[in-house]
Amino acid sequence: MMEQQLNSYLQSMTLEEKVDQLLQLVGAFFEDAGTEGQITGPMASLGITEETVHNVGSVLGLAGAKEVIRVQQAHLSKNRLGIPLLIMADIVHGFKTIFPIPLAIGCSWDMRLAEESATIAAREAAVSGIHVTFAPMVDLVRDPRWGRVMESTGEDPYLNSEFARAFVRGYQGKDLTNDTDRVAACVKHFAAYGAGEGGRDYNTVDLSAWQLREYYLPSYKAALDEGCEMVMTSFNTVEGVAATGNKRLMRDLLRDEWGFDGVLISDWAAIKELIPHGIAEDEREAAQKALLAGVDIEMMTSCYNGHLPELVRSGQLDEALVDEAVMRVLKLKQKLGLFDNPLRGADPEREREIVFCDAHRAVAKELAIKSCVLLKNDSVLPLKRSQHIALIGPFAQSGDILGSWSWSGSQDEAIRVIDGFQSKISSSLLTVATGCSIEDVTAEDMTAEQYAEALQAASQAEIIVLALGERSDMSGEAGSRSNIRLPQAQLELIKRLKTLNKPMVAVLFNGRPLDLHGVIEEADAVLEAWFPGGEGGAAIADLLYGDAEPTGRLTMSFPQSVGQVPVYYNHFNTGRPQLDPNTKERYVSQYLDVPNEPLFPFGYGLSYTEVAYDSIQLSSETLVPGQALTVKVRVTNAGARPVEETVQCYVRDISGDTVRPLKELKDFRKVLLPPGESREVEFALTKPQLRYHHADLSFSSDSGEFAVLTGPNSRDTTEGRFRLVKETGK
Ligand code: IFM
Repeated sequence: MMEQQLNSYLQSMTLEEKVDQLLQLVGAFFEDAGTEGQITGPMASLGITEETVHNVGSVLGLAGAKEVIRVQQAHLSKNRLGIPLLIMADIVHGFKTIFPIPLAIGCSWDMRLAEESATIAAREAAVSGIHVTFAPMVDLVRDPRWGRVMESTGEDPYLNSEFARAFVRGYQGKDLTNDTDRVAACVKHFAAYGAGEGGRDYNTVDLSAWQLREYYLPSYKAALDEGCEMVMTSFNTVEGVAATGNKRLMRDLLRDEWGFDGVLISDWAAIKELIPHGIAEDEREAAQKALLAGVDIEMMTSCYNGHLPELVRSGQLDEALVDEAVMRVLKLKQKLGLFDNPLRGADPEREREIVFCDAHRAVAKELAIKSCVLLKNDSVLPLKRSQHIALIGPFAQSGDILGSWSWSGSQDEAIRVIDGFQSKISSSLLTVATGCSIEDVTAEDMTAEQYAEALQAASQAEIIVLALGERSDMSGEAGSRSNIRLPQAQLELIKRLKTLNKPMVAVLFNGRPLDLHGVIEEADAVLEAWFPGGEGGAAIADLLYGDAEPTGRLTMSFPQSVGQVPVYYNHFNTGRPQLDPNTKERYVSQYLDVPNEPLFPFGYGLSYTEVAYDSIQLSSETLVPGQALTVKVRVTNAGARPVEETVQCYVRDISGDTVRPLKELKDFRKVLLPPGESREVEFALTKPQLRYHHADLSFSSDSGEFAVLTGPNSRDTTEGRFRLVKETGK
């Protein structure tokens, strides 16, 4: 269908029909939907008519081929012009095959698997009738109190951008129109939603334009450069104006400067929320501001529906703005092939064949293995199959390991930790107890009984394996916490078991970096499993028994305590840096009660072997514009087990126009190292990699001195120096 034909649709539409194209509702509004669909926000009464429902442009959270076909066919029979519905949903880390949460996927540093996870998620979603996923979420995150850090790949703008690209490639493929196994991606939440004050969800964000451009915007831009079709606004303010009504952010930057001409959707109720934000007096003004800012679709409130027609008729809004927004929606429908094939990939028979199939689940397991991060191991892991294990803790037998964006996944079908252990050792070697509930309970008697049962179970075993963590709804949207330790009941369980003096391994399930006090000193080994997805138990058992190697590396720092937050690796030096952690000097930038360094830094993770890094070698002392500087480091597997090592390369601009981070990740390589073998790993550094935003927001590099650092994480690096020389004539 040509643009001309889309235009003729537009010409045939009444103003009300146009405005209805800009409304998105959940499945509950459609009488032909069998279920309510996925509800992810407050359900207010919208005061819309049945006719509006017949004309609405898109649905949120419907899935299931049969149901979607029924709703689409009914809609086409009721919609005067026969314009198909767009079906959108949050397919964030899998549809029915649930992959690890994105923060865990980040820790894999594996773009191939990240892309494959999105390809599989798209395939399952598309065959179940979905056209658009509200993913990837690429918000940069530095504050583990925020529950939504679990949806991001972490604290680094470069790595987040690489993941953003990989996810978009996986969801959309190369030919969205003809490849009906793909879905359109919607990058979110634009912008800087991850920087909410105090880590409280929906809270104020106030960043300098420089911070915004340098750290927070690159990952959204990367997704768009990869061809991402849609953008979702964020709930927060940006430079004093709520993002959803922020003309400078959307129309000036996103649309005009970046040239984005795809669909921009509000987050759930975010247009109406301009009122409590205090930048609109009423729904009418909210609608006006959002449309002027460039928002096309309103999700789950009816400010557009209730007020755009009158705003246009009274001359306060140009109808051309409405037309533009409608055209973007129609173009996306066209791009997805919906005018020719409104049912697109929805196919109940194929759905039964491919959704949650063994091949998809195998990839979920592979990714779960790569996402877990071994934080501590005092020679207790890997376990031996001859050892008697006491598996204890609220996550030992729990299916709540999928993570909070897994509305189509089934906890009952998840491979739990106990299932993983049962596949490795006979029941005579396994004793299991819950130990306590996830959160603190007031029923003292029950807790005492559970502790007693746990002690009894542990007393029979050689090794205690603890499965601990946060319930999945303790992170995710509206899941902020000010205390990021394990709940007291679980810390008490550890303390009591410690009295037995047996080796203890803790496996942690959580959606954020935790303050690990009470765990890290007590346990002999700690495996951070995050929410590993549906195959989690199998992946964890493989790792604990050494049938797979732990290779995950943190992409978000673990604080020593919540008082250090935000703590992230790419921070600035300050004018009074603490050069020695044991300094007696008072007047330096430091805490009196905790070190400056996090407990575990960005890039950190252990394996079952030791990898030695030789000193760094540079091909030259200067980097000449237009040429590459070769950075080499030899890595040797000094242990007895194979490993896939993530060799990381950082840069520091010693003196810039603005302050520069002590380290910035520029590149990394994953290298396979059989026991005893060495590899020379090479990075080619070029001038464009040294560019950054200057004080006037221009983007360029400075000539002068740089440090380049390589290592297994952002802390343990070896350094070389070079100078970036000026281009002649400049
Ligand atoms: O996509 C989500 C968003 O991340 C949070 N609010 C609701 C949206 C739709 O479910």
